[in-house]
Amino acid sequence: MKYYMAPMEGLTGYVYRNAYHKFFSPMDRYFAPFIANKKMSSRERNDILPDHNQGLCLIPQILTNRSADFLAVAKELKNYGYDIINLNVGCPSGTVVAKGRGAGLLEDPETLDRFLYEIFAAYDGRISVKTRIGMEDEDEWQEILAVYEKYPLEELIIHPRVRRDFYKGKPRLDAFSYAVKESGHRLCYNGDICSAEDLQNVTEDFPKLDCVMFGRGLLSNPFLTEMCQAVGNAEKQAGNAVRDHMQENKERLYAFHQEILQNYMQIMSGDRNTLFRMKELWFYLGASFTNSDKYLKKIKKAERIALYQSVVDALFREQELLIE
Ligand SMILES: Cc1cc2nc3c(=O)[nH]c(=O)nc-3n(C[C@H](O)[C@H](O)[C@H](O)COP(=O)(O)O)c2cc1C
Repeated sequence: MKYYMAPMEGLTGYVYRNAYHKFFSPMDRYFAPFIANKKMSSRERNDILPDHNQGLCLIPQILTNRSADFLAVAKELKNYGYDIINLNVGCPSGTVVAKGRGAGLLEDPETLDRFLYEIFAAYDGRISVKTRIGMEDEDEWQEILAVYEKYPLEELIIHPRVRRDFYKGKPRLDAFSYAVKESGHRLCYNGDICSAEDLQNVTEDFPKLDCVMFGRGLLSNPFLTEMCQAVGNAEKQAGNAVRDHMQENKERLYAFHQEILQNYMQIMSGDRNTLFRMKELWFYLGASFTNSDKYLKKIKKAERIALYQSVVDALFREQELLIE
């Protein structure tokens, strides 16, 4: 089974992914959060610079509905050595969709078709797609998938929700099942894998599936892939190893946290910006600790790194990891 790290704007940038790669079980591929500007911003460029992503397989992602813009960014990415580009056809945000980008591309399959035609005709590298299954209703999926089938996608990553779902409700597994039956593409499943059991359920439903992408579940529990590696492994050693070494795990998680904090402090000006990023992370990571609420409230309020650090230290010292 191949494991991918989901692109998550503001969360899984190069600081996070490098720290993850250093302290936890490495991913087969890391997907960079989307690049939305036809002339990359310095933040977007810094995120994909090869110097900032050494030793890991990074796939940059583009968010656009204009072929000229896609091609301009893809060309620049190629100059940095990236031969595979991922296209974002899933972002549900109102401003993105209103411009016909992200999930907005799903509104009209003919427009999607024309866009794919133009980029495949002109780009000489490989293109993969990360998609939702429709805007409003999963009935849209059949026609959308038929469009994808016309192009030689490097792979098709499916988050089986419609735009209207945002991140709520359950993934629509019937739509994923339809793709498994009908698609000739290499498929990757994405959505709500938060435990080894979730992955086991997905692999039971789709025994031939050989690729999954982890997002929120991994941010909440960075040990998740190590626990998942135990699935299908007769002795379930990996899972036991994670559970049997709680103290070491805490130390590892702390070191991981410190690495992220120090690296944000180095590249960001002022406590505020660093703390903004760390607070976003704690929105997910808080789920890994017992009784985390009161610490999370203080973390949210902290305006200085020294105070933030003392709350985090207390949380690690006074509470236990909640890893199932
Ligand atoms: C805060 C946030 C930021 C995200 N940013 C991106 C992004 O830049 N590109 C993208 O394709 N998907 C993005 N996603 C979607 C995730 O990659 C993933 O598809 C989604 O969270 C479902 O997977 P999960 O249930 O494992 O989290 C984002 C999701 C969240 C919650």
